Amino acid sequence: MDFYITTPIYYVNDEPHLGHAYTTILADVLARYARLQGSQTFFLTGVDEHGQKAQEAARLHGLEPQAYVDLMHTRFQSAWQELEVANDDFIRTTQPRHVHVVEHVLNQLWQQGDIYLDEYQGWYCVPDERFWTEKDLRDGQCPDCGRPVEPVSEPNYFFRMNRYQGWLIDYIQAHLDFILPALRRNEVLGFLHQPLGDLCISRPASRLNWGIPLPFDPNFVTYVWFDALLNYVTAAGYLQDEARFSRLWPQARHLIGKDILTTHSVYWPTMLKAAGLPMPRTIFATGWWTVDGEKISKSRGNTVKPLELASIYGVEAFRYYLMSQMQPGHDADFSRERLASCYQADLANNLGNLLQRVVNMLTRYCDGRIPSPAMEAVADSDTRSLIRLCEDLPGRVFSAANAFDTPQALDQCRAVLDAANQYLERQAPWKRSAGNPQGVNTCLYTAAEALRLVALLLSPVMPKRCAEVWRRLGWLPLAVLRDGLAWGMLQPGAPVTPGEPLFPRK
Ligand code: MSP
Repeated sequence: MDFYITTPIYYVNDEPHLGHAYTTILADVLARYARLQGSQTFFLTGVDEHGQKAQEAARLHGLEPQAYVDLMHTRFQSAWQELEVANDDFIRTTQPRHVHVVEHVLNQLWQQGDIYLDEYQGWYCVPDERFWTEKDLRDGQCPDCGRPVEPVSEPNYFFRMNRYQGWLIDYIQAHLDFILPALRRNEVLGFLHQPLGDLCISRPASRLNWGIPLPFDPNFVTYVWFDALLNYVTAAGYLQDEARFSRLWPQARHLIGKDILTTHSVYWPTMLKAAGLPMPRTIFATGWWTVDGEKISKSRGNTVKPLELASIYGVEAFRYYLMSQMQPGHDADFSRERLASCYQADLANNLGNLLQRVVNMLTRYCDGRIPSPAMEAVADSDTRSLIRLCEDLPGRVFSAANAFDTPQALDQCRAVLDAANQYLERQAPWKRSAGNPQGVNTCLYTAAEALRLVALLLSPVMPKRCAEVWRRLGWLPLAVLRDGLAWGMLQPGAPVTPGEPLFPRK
């Protein structure tokens, strides 16, 4: 089964911040969980390079727009590399493969009468790159971000979005996993109670020339959202590799922020419908991060620099923290204190200490090797119930991940680590080492194997730290990682390697 996951393509003039980092890491983690379940995955991220914002930023830097975006897009690429994001593709909307798709779709819609020329009168919010009508405005400002809007009165081309309103309502109601969480589906359906206008999809080249010229009228460039949304089909192989496209595209999951819900769940599906293309599988809207309860903004000076935090706690602890905090679709609050306490409790104490204890005991009581456990059938009931818990773990973690619920997936892993810690306390192998070698062997094998398995299920979040757990337990992951999900993969006789704490005290 294919699994295609996307992030929004980020405005290239922004600096990668916490909101971008979270969404991109979430996509990475979900792609890795899908791969662990045996899916063929394709993970796309990229940058949105056209539009007024980019043009103005380039002008401020004294650069041509193309030179400016060539310079700026690498900041995103290198941030993702540092955060251990393993995207399969990185799209830039200035790439010829994408320009070709945009031109093709515009031509098609033009020829079939879904695009017409009319006078546009309204307002434009440059920071959001959104058109608004008079009645949309709130106190004369952008209803979305509250910033000033510019008056616009000019001829423009329009997409007959209104034609597809009835179809869209039916589609959303018939496909309950199309817009998630349900709260957002209801929000979109509420919005669709009002008559849907047509969508202005151009800007006169005389005012804005940094965009893709309309193929049927070079006096205009394409509206940046119409251009940007099509990135998702470009990268899936549309017009390039039809076999790949038709396999991959219907399995697309778009991760977005709740602020770009309308563009993704109203503009985008109607554009696809008009172009005769299938719908993506799911549009999942995440919440927003605040910092110590406040909206993140440059003027408040509370922007969170993801790379800075990653350098204090380690990239993977930072990924773990982000993935553990945001309940699906809800806002989450970022706090340095909570990051510190999550590091100490979940990583240093729970996971790190357990590994340290188990490896030390294996060194002391089992000659530094993985021992042979008793056959499961004759093991004591305490041991059997920990094994049972571990055997159920993959299913529980995967169903949480498949529901975009990473905090739940991590909770499941934490519960097994807690259980393994308690199991060690009850079994107390340090008291029995002299009299009962078989009991000690079984207990330490079981605890070590539980750790190996939990590490496998945490590896989408912390790939390198988890590989270090395996190395210390003498396990070489199999070529097909999924085969490692079975209980009992640690090989008796394999040497264990003691080492420094996995998550050192800060
Ligand atoms: N370029 C458009 C997307 C086009 S997709 C076809 C865009 N770019 S953006 O860079 O402004 O924002 C990208 C994403 O970052 C949005 O999904 C937005 O929700 C997210 N975030 C920006 N600030 C955020 C937080 N404070 N918290 C969580 N996500 C936030 O919009």
